[in-house]
Amino acid sequence: MYKKIKESSDFIKKSIEYQTIHSGIILGSGMGGFEEKFEKIYSFDYSEVPHFIKPSVQGHSGNLSIVKFGDKLTAILSGRAHYYEGYDIKDIVLPTRVLADLGIKTLVLTNAAGGISENYEPGDIINIKDHINLTGNNPLIGKNLDELGPRFPDMTEVYNENLRELARKISKNLFQYKDGIYAWFTGPTYETPSEVNFAKIIGADLVGMSTVPEAIVARHSGIKVSAFSLVTNLAAGISKEPLSHDEVIEIAEMSKDKLQNFMEKFLIEINLSI
Ligand code: HPA
Repeated sequence: MYKKIKESSDFIKKSIEYQTIHSGIILGSGMGGFEEKFEKIYSFDYSEVPHFIKPSVQGHSGNLSIVKFGDKLTAILSGRAHYYEGYDIKDIVLPTRVLADLGIKTLVLTNAAGGISENYEPGDIINIKDHINLTGNNPLIGKNLDELGPRFPDMTEVYNENLRELARKISKNLFQYKDGIYAWFTGPTYETPSEVNFAKIIGADLVGMSTVPEAIVARHSGIKVSAFSLVTNLAAGISKEPLSHDEVIEIAEMSKDKLQNFMEKFLIEINLSI
């Protein structure tokens, strides 16, 4: 795995003439196309980058762009592979490992999720304050690579508190700030109403199929993490309607501008503060 990470990272380092990348963002459903708003200093299709997996899901393009925010460089990963696509979890988190090897200090993660909390409506942007891993998997299972991070990483504050405060400030004139706890299910099925009820009882506000493995690996490497869910639907059983991926895509499209506006400001502030 270490060799794979180095091969990807070396390819990118050479291609960008060894410039420093300060931060990274991984775009989930609802954020695809964000990179198109900015001048790309470099741009790579995932198929060009060794070991990057081309995503198969609609709304995930599979492009790595290097863009300037606040005079520093940010890597924008448009699209991610998901565990439910059948890949090894270590390959799912490889892009995060590569970002760590490139030296980023902060990683922002975005996703589409189902809302459990009564305070949420479709279209809401939720700042993730903690997670619950309900998959039984973990990207750090297996031999620990000590050069990457410790065997038993602390998970007390996965989602950086200062970044949450910054997000609250920046959201002020854009949308009502809300935060919550994200429960990771593998998918690809949406949850049953009983699974959603279980997640609610144990404290989850959102359910989704991504983000947690990347957050775990980023913390393993000592990177600060911030994550946002776009509520594309009320979770199964909370909504009386059956869930559909088309609905997820439709709400994501409708809320795109709001989330992208926020994210541009957020990334500028992150890069200024590094
Ligand atoms: N559950 C899991 N993942 C999701 C959902 C959901 O309800 N909506 C969007 N992604």
